[in-house]
Amino acid sequence: MPRLEVGIAPRTRPAYELVLDDAFDWLDRRVANSIEAVVTDPPYGLIEFSEAELRKKKDGSGGVWRIPPAFDGCERAPLPRFTVLRDRDRQALRAFFARLSQSLIRVLVPGAHVFIATNPLVSHLVYEPFIAAGFEKRGEIIRLVQTLRGGDRPKNAENEFDLVSVMPRSGWEPWGLFRKPCQGRVQDNLRVWRTGGLRRISDAEPFRDVISAPVARGREREIAPHPSLKPQRLMRQLVRASLPFAEGTVLDPFMGSGSTIAAASALGIQSIGIECNPEFFALAVAAIPELAGLDAGEHDSARW
Ligand SMILES: C[S@@+](CC[C@H](N)C(=O)[O-])C[C@H]1O[C@@H](n2cnc3c(N)ncnc32)[C@H](O)[C@@H]1O
Repeated sequence: MPRLEVGIAPRTRPAYELVLDDAFDWLDRRVANSIEAVVTDPPYGLIEFSEAELRKKKDGSGGVWRIPPAFDGCERAPLPRFTVLRDRDRQALRAFFARLSQSLIRVLVPGAHVFIATNPLVSHLVYEPFIAAGFEKRGEIIRLVQTLRGGDRPKNAENEFDLVSVMPRSGWEPWGLFRKPCQGRVQDNLRVWRTGGLRRISDAEPFRDVISAPVARGREREIAPHPSLKPQRLMRQLVRASLPFAEGTVLDPFMGSGSTIAAASALGIQSIGIECNPEFFALAVAAIPELAGLDAGEHDSARW
Protein backbone atom coordinates (compact mmCIF):
# COMPACT_ATOMS: atom_id res chain seq x y z
CA MET A 1 0.00 0.00 0.00
CA PRO A 2 1.47 3.38 -0.92
CA ARG A 3 1.74 5.69 2.06
CA LEU A 4 -0.20 8.85 1.34
CA GLU A 5 1.37 12.14 2.30
CA VAL A 6 -0.48 13.85 5.09
CA GLY A 7 1.84 16.84 5.47
CA ILE A 8 -0.60 19.27 3.85
CA ALA A 9 -3.71 19.98 5.85
CA PRO A 10 -6.41 20.07 3.19
CA ARG A 11 -8.99 22.82 3.22
CA THR A 12 -7.02 25.12 5.48
CA ARG A 13 -6.70 28.56 3.96
CA PRO A 14 -3.42 30.25 4.89
CA ALA A 15 -2.92 33.90 4.12
CA TYR A 16 -2.13 34.96 0.61
CA GLU A 17 -0.95 38.38 -0.42
CA LEU A 18 -2.22 40.03 -3.60
CA VAL A 19 -0.36 43.04 -4.98
CA LEU A 20 -1.48 45.43 -7.72
CA ASP A 21 1.90 46.37 -9.16
CA ASP A 22 4.35 45.82 -11.95
CA ALA A 23 6.08 42.50 -11.27
CA PHE A 24 9.53 43.88 -12.02
CA ASP A 25 9.14 46.82 -9.66
CA TRP A 26 7.92 44.48 -6.94
CA LEU A 27 10.77 42.03 -7.54
CA ASP A 28 13.32 44.88 -7.39
CA ARG A 29 12.05 45.83 -3.92
CA ARG A 30 11.87 42.26 -2.60
CA VAL A 31 14.49 41.02 -0.16
CA ALA A 32 16.99 38.50 -1.61
CA ASN A 33 16.56 34.77 -0.80
CA SER A 34 12.97 35.14 0.41
CA ILE A 35 10.75 33.09 -1.96
CA GLU A 36 10.67 29.27 -2.06
CA ALA A 37 8.97 28.64 -5.45
CA VAL A 38 7.51 30.32 -8.52
CA VAL A 39 4.59 28.95 -10.54
CA THR A 40 3.64 31.34 -13.30
CA ASP A 41 2.07 31.84 -16.71
CA PRO A 42 3.73 34.98 -18.09
CA PRO A 43 2.42 37.35 -20.77
CA TYR A 44 3.96 36.03 -23.97
CA GLY A 45 4.66 38.75 -26.40
CA LEU A 46 4.33 41.61 -23.99
CA ILE A 47 1.88 42.41 -26.72
CA GLU A 48 -1.27 40.47 -25.96
CA PHE A 49 -1.90 42.14 -22.60
CA SER A 50 -1.02 45.64 -23.83
CA GLU A 51 -3.88 48.16 -23.75
CA ALA A 52 -4.03 48.36 -27.55
CA GLU A 53 -4.29 44.58 -28.03
CA LEU A 54 -6.83 44.12 -25.23
CA ARG A 55 -8.95 46.84 -26.89
CA LYS A 56 -8.74 45.07 -30.29
CA LYS A 57 -9.71 41.81 -28.59
CA LYS A 58 -12.73 43.47 -26.96
CA ASP A 59 -13.78 44.94 -30.35
CA GLY A 60 -13.23 41.57 -32.06
CA SER A 61 -11.06 43.36 -34.61
CA GLY A 62 -8.03 41.12 -35.10
CA GLY A 63 -4.69 42.00 -33.62
CA VAL A 64 -2.75 39.25 -31.91
CA TRP A 65 -5.94 37.66 -30.50
CA ARG A 66 -7.54 35.15 -32.85
CA ILE A 67 -10.94 33.53 -32.34
CA PRO A 68 -10.57 29.79 -33.04
CA PRO A 69 -13.37 28.28 -35.11
CA ALA A 70 -16.22 26.62 -33.20
CA PHE A 71 -16.38 23.02 -34.34
CA ASP A 72 -18.59 21.38 -31.73
CA GLY A 73 -21.11 24.09 -30.97
CA CYS A 74 -18.95 25.46 -28.13
CA GLU A 75 -17.84 29.05 -28.19
CA ARG A 76 -14.03 29.30 -28.05
CA ALA A 77 -12.05 31.86 -26.10
CA PRO A 78 -9.66 34.01 -28.17
CA LEU A 79 -6.02 32.83 -28.25
CA PRO A 80 -2.96 34.98 -28.87
CA ARG A 81 -1.23 34.24 -32.21
CA PHE A 82 2.47 33.77 -31.68
CA THR A 83 3.16 33.16 -35.35
CA VAL A 84 2.78 36.90 -36.00
CA LEU A 85 5.84 37.73 -33.89
CA ARG A 86 8.58 39.54 -35.81
CA ASP A 87 12.31 39.61 -35.07
CA ARG A 88 11.86 42.73 -33.00
CA ASP A 89 9.15 41.02 -30.92
CA ARG A 90 11.35 37.97 -30.40
CA GLN A 91 14.20 40.16 -29.18
CA ALA A 92 11.81 41.91 -26.80
CA LEU A 93 10.63 38.53 -25.50
CA ARG A 94 14.19 37.40 -24.90
CA ALA A 95 14.96 40.66 -23.06
CA PHE A 96 11.78 40.27 -20.99
CA PHE A 97 12.76 36.76 -19.86
CA ALA A 98 16.37 37.84 -19.26
CA ARG A 99 15.10 40.53 -16.89
CA LEU A 100 12.62 38.16 -15.24
CA SER A 101 15.16 35.39 -14.69
CA GLN A 102 17.77 37.82 -13.30
CA SER A 103 15.19 39.22 -10.87
CA LEU A 104 14.00 35.77 -9.83
CA ILE A 105 17.42 34.28 -9.20
CA ARG A 106 18.03 37.03 -6.65
CA VAL A 107 14.76 36.72 -4.71
CA LEU A 108 14.59 32.91 -4.71
CA VAL A 109 16.24 30.80 -2.04
CA PRO A 110 18.84 28.22 -3.14
CA GLY A 111 17.13 25.09 -4.50
CA ALA A 112 13.88 26.95 -5.31
CA HIS A 113 11.99 25.69 -8.36
CA VAL A 114 10.35 27.74 -11.10
CA PHE A 115 7.49 26.31 -13.16
CA ILE A 116 6.87 28.60 -16.13
CA ALA A 117 4.18 28.13 -18.77
CA THR A 118 5.23 28.55 -22.37
CA ASN A 119 4.40 27.21 -25.82
CA PRO A 120 6.35 25.24 -28.40
CA LEU A 121 6.97 28.26 -30.67
CA VAL A 122 8.69 30.50 -28.15
CA SER A 123 9.89 28.24 -25.32
CA HIS A 124 13.55 28.65 -26.35
CA LEU A 125 13.19 32.42 -25.82
CA VAL A 126 12.39 31.66 -22.18
CA TYR A 127 14.72 28.77 -21.51
CA GLU A 128 17.94 30.31 -22.85
CA PRO A 129 17.75 33.48 -20.70
CA PHE A 130 16.87 31.40 -17.61
CA ILE A 131 19.93 29.23 -18.11
CA ALA A 132 22.09 32.31 -18.83
CA ALA A 133 20.87 33.85 -15.54
CA GLY A 134 22.22 30.84 -13.63
CA PHE A 135 19.17 28.54 -13.34
CA GLU A 136 19.52 24.81 -13.92
CA LYS A 137 17.02 23.40 -16.40
CA ARG A 138 15.40 20.47 -14.58
CA GLY A 139 13.08 19.33 -17.35
CA GLU A 140 9.73 20.27 -18.77
CA ILE A 141 6.20 19.47 -17.72
CA ILE A 142 4.06 18.44 -20.67
CA ARG A 143 0.46 19.44 -20.14
CA LEU A 144 -1.75 17.44 -22.48
CA VAL A 145 -4.39 19.89 -23.74
CA GLN A 146 -6.19 20.54 -27.00
CA THR A 147 -5.50 24.25 -27.49
CA LEU A 148 -6.75 24.57 -31.09
CA ARG A 149 -3.40 26.11 -31.98
CA GLY A 150 -1.97 25.14 -35.37
CA GLY A 151 -3.45 22.79 -37.93
CA ASP A 152 -4.52 25.63 -40.24
CA ARG A 153 -4.19 25.54 -44.03
CA PRO A 154 -2.08 28.30 -45.66
CA LYS A 155 -3.88 31.60 -45.10
CA ASN A 156 -5.87 32.83 -48.13
CA ALA A 157 -4.85 29.73 -50.10
CA GLU A 158 -6.91 27.19 -48.18
CA ASN A 159 -8.66 25.79 -51.26
CA GLU A 160 -5.52 25.52 -53.33
CA PHE A 161 -3.68 23.63 -50.55
CA ASP A 162 -6.56 21.82 -48.92
CA LEU A 163 -4.41 18.91 -47.72
CA VAL A 164 -1.66 21.09 -46.19
CA SER A 165 -1.28 22.40 -42.61
CA VAL A 166 1.37 25.02 -41.92
CA MET A 167 1.89 23.68 -38.39
CA PRO A 168 0.75 20.63 -36.47
CA ARG A 169 -2.47 21.00 -34.48
CA SER A 170 -1.06 21.25 -30.98
CA GLY A 171 -2.04 18.75 -28.30
CA TRP A 172 0.34 19.87 -25.54
CA GLU A 173 1.64 22.86 -23.61
CA PRO A 174 5.19 22.91 -22.23
CA TRP A 175 6.04 24.28 -18.79
CA GLY A 176 9.75 24.96 -18.25
CA LEU A 177 11.09 23.59 -14.97
CA PHE A 178 14.10 25.41 -13.50
CA ARG A 179 15.95 25.38 -10.20
CA LYS A 180 18.22 27.90 -8.54
CA PRO A 181 21.37 25.90 -7.77
CA CYS A 182 21.42 24.22 -4.36
CA GLN A 183 23.89 25.09 -1.63
CA GLY A 184 25.88 21.87 -1.42
CA ARG A 185 24.10 18.58 -1.97
CA VAL A 186 20.34 18.35 -2.44
CA GLN A 187 20.03 16.82 1.04
CA ASP A 188 21.98 19.71 2.58
CA ASN A 189 19.79 22.23 0.79
CA LEU A 190 16.61 20.41 1.84
CA ARG A 191 17.71 20.61 5.47
CA VAL A 192 18.74 24.25 5.44
CA TRP A 193 16.37 25.94 2.96
CA ARG A 194 13.55 23.33 2.79
CA THR A 195 13.82 23.42 -1.03
CA GLY A 196 15.79 21.60 -3.73
CA GLY A 197 13.40 18.75 -4.53
CA LEU A 198 9.84 18.21 -5.73
CA ARG A 199 7.08 16.91 -3.51
CA ARG A 200 6.13 13.34 -4.34
CA ILE A 201 2.51 12.30 -4.81
CA SER A 202 3.13 9.49 -2.31
CA ASP A 203 6.14 7.43 -1.24
CA ALA A 204 5.35 5.03 -4.10
CA GLU A 205 4.68 7.70 -6.69
CA PRO A 206 6.92 10.59 -7.69
CA PHE A 207 5.64 13.77 -9.32
CA ARG A 208 5.43 13.11 -13.07
CA ASP A 209 6.17 15.37 -16.02
CA VAL A 210 3.10 14.56 -18.14
CA ILE A 211 -0.20 15.93 -16.87
CA SER A 212 -3.48 15.74 -18.69
CA ALA A 213 -5.42 18.94 -17.97
CA PRO A 214 -8.05 20.21 -20.43
CA VAL A 215 -8.86 23.89 -20.85
CA ALA A 216 -10.79 25.36 -17.90
CA ARG A 217 -14.49 25.39 -18.67
CA GLY A 218 -17.88 25.69 -16.99
CA ARG A 219 -17.97 26.93 -13.43
CA GLU A 220 -14.23 27.64 -13.33
CA ARG A 221 -14.46 29.96 -16.33
CA GLU A 222 -17.61 31.62 -14.97
CA ILE A 223 -15.75 32.42 -11.76
CA ALA A 224 -12.62 33.66 -13.52
CA PRO A 225 -13.24 34.82 -17.12
CA HIS A 226 -9.58 35.69 -17.81
CA PRO A 227 -8.43 35.04 -21.40
CA SER A 228 -5.55 32.84 -20.16
CA LEU A 229 -7.17 31.07 -17.20
CA LYS A 230 -5.32 27.88 -16.17
CA PRO A 231 -7.37 25.04 -14.68
CA GLN A 232 -7.21 24.14 -10.99
CA ARG A 233 -6.69 20.53 -12.00
CA LEU A 234 -3.28 21.51 -13.40
CA MET A 235 -2.33 24.30 -11.02
CA ARG A 236 -2.88 22.28 -7.86
CA GLN A 237 -0.56 19.56 -9.10
CA LEU A 238 2.18 22.05 -10.04
CA VAL A 239 1.91 24.16 -6.89
CA ARG A 240 1.91 21.06 -4.73
CA ALA A 241 5.02 19.68 -6.42
CA SER A 242 6.88 23.00 -6.16
CA LEU A 243 7.49 22.81 -2.37
CA PRO A 244 8.95 19.54 -1.07
CA PHE A 245 7.58 20.06 2.46
CA ALA A 246 4.66 22.42 1.64
CA GLU A 247 6.70 25.02 3.56
CA GLY A 248 7.50 28.49 2.29
CA THR A 249 5.91 30.88 -0.18
CA VAL A 250 4.91 30.34 -3.81
CA LEU A 251 5.06 33.47 -5.98
CA ASP A 252 3.10 34.15 -9.16
CA PRO A 253 4.42 37.45 -10.57
CA PHE A 254 1.80 37.43 -13.39
CA MET A 255 -1.22 36.08 -11.56
CA GLY A 256 -4.03 37.15 -13.96
CA SER A 257 -7.20 35.90 -12.30
CA GLY A 258 -5.20 34.12 -9.60
CA SER A 259 -5.32 30.43 -10.52
CA THR A 260 -1.89 29.79 -8.91
CA ILE A 261 -2.90 31.59 -5.73
CA ALA A 262 -6.23 29.73 -5.60
CA ALA A 263 -4.40 26.42 -6.00
CA ALA A 264 -1.99 27.33 -3.18
CA SER A 265 -4.90 28.36 -0.97
CA ALA A 266 -6.73 25.08 -1.66
CA LEU A 267 -3.55 23.19 -0.72
CA GLY A 268 -2.86 25.12 2.47
CA ILE A 269 0.26 26.80 1.04
CA GLN A 270 1.27 30.46 1.45
CA SER A 271 1.47 32.52 -1.73
CA ILE A 272 1.94 35.96 -3.23
CA GLY A 273 0.30 37.09 -6.48
CA ILE A 274 1.27 40.19 -8.49
CA GLU A 275 -0.88 41.66 -11.27
CA CYS A 276 -0.46 45.03 -12.99
CA ASN A 277 -3.85 45.29 -14.70
CA PRO A 278 -6.45 46.73 -12.26
CA GLU A 279 -9.36 44.87 -13.95
CA PHE A 280 -7.62 41.50 -13.72
CA PHE A 281 -6.49 42.32 -10.19
CA ALA A 282 -10.11 42.95 -9.12
CA LEU A 283 -11.11 39.73 -10.87
CA ALA A 284 -8.46 37.80 -8.91
CA VAL A 285 -9.54 39.27 -5.58
CA ALA A 286 -13.07 38.00 -6.15
CA ALA A 287 -12.20 34.73 -7.95
CA ILE A 288 -9.48 33.26 -5.71
CA PRO A 289 -11.67 32.17 -2.76
CA GLU A 290 -14.19 30.64 -5.16
CA LEU A 291 -11.60 28.84 -7.29
CA ALA A 292 -9.93 27.58 -4.12
CA GLY A 293 -13.23 26.14 -2.98
CA LEU A 294 -13.80 24.12 -6.16
CA ASP A 295 -13.43 20.38 -6.13
CA ALA A 296 -10.68 19.61 -8.67
CA GLY A 297 -11.74 15.99 -9.01
CA GLU A 298 -9.06 13.39 -8.48
CA HIS A 299 -6.53 16.23 -8.12
CA ASP A 300 -8.24 17.77 -5.14
CA SER A 301 -5.83 17.98 -2.24
CA ALA A 302 -8.38 16.42 0.10
CA ARG A 303 -8.07 13.16 -1.85
CA TRP A 304 -4.31 12.81 -1.56
C1 LIG B 1 -1.03 34.82 -19.15
S1 LIG B 1 -1.79 35.84 -18.00
C2 LIG B 1 -1.91 34.86 -16.55
C3 LIG B 1 -3.25 34.20 -16.40
C4 LIG B 1 -3.32 33.27 -15.20
N1 LIG B 1 -2.53 32.10 -15.43
C5 LIG B 1 -4.74 32.84 -14.86
O1 LIG B 1 -5.00 31.64 -14.74
O2 LIG B 1 -5.59 33.72 -14.74
C6 LIG B 1 -0.53 36.98 -17.63
C7 LIG B 1 -0.97 38.14 -16.74
O3 LIG B 1 0.18 38.94 -16.45
C8 LIG B 1 -0.22 40.29 -16.36
N2 LIG B 1 1.00 41.11 -16.57
C9 LIG B 1 1.60 41.42 -17.74
N3 LIG B 1 2.72 42.13 -17.51
C10 LIG B 1 2.82 42.26 -16.16
C11 LIG B 1 3.76 42.90 -15.30
N4 LIG B 1 4.85 43.54 -15.79
N5 LIG B 1 3.57 42.84 -13.96
C12 LIG B 1 2.49 42.20 -13.44
N6 LIG B 1 1.55 41.59 -14.21
C13 LIG B 1 1.73 41.62 -15.55
C14 LIG B 1 -1.28 40.45 -17.43
O4 LIG B 1 -2.13 41.54 -17.17
C15 LIG B 1 -2.00 39.09 -17.36
O5 LIG B 1 -3.13 39.14 -16.54
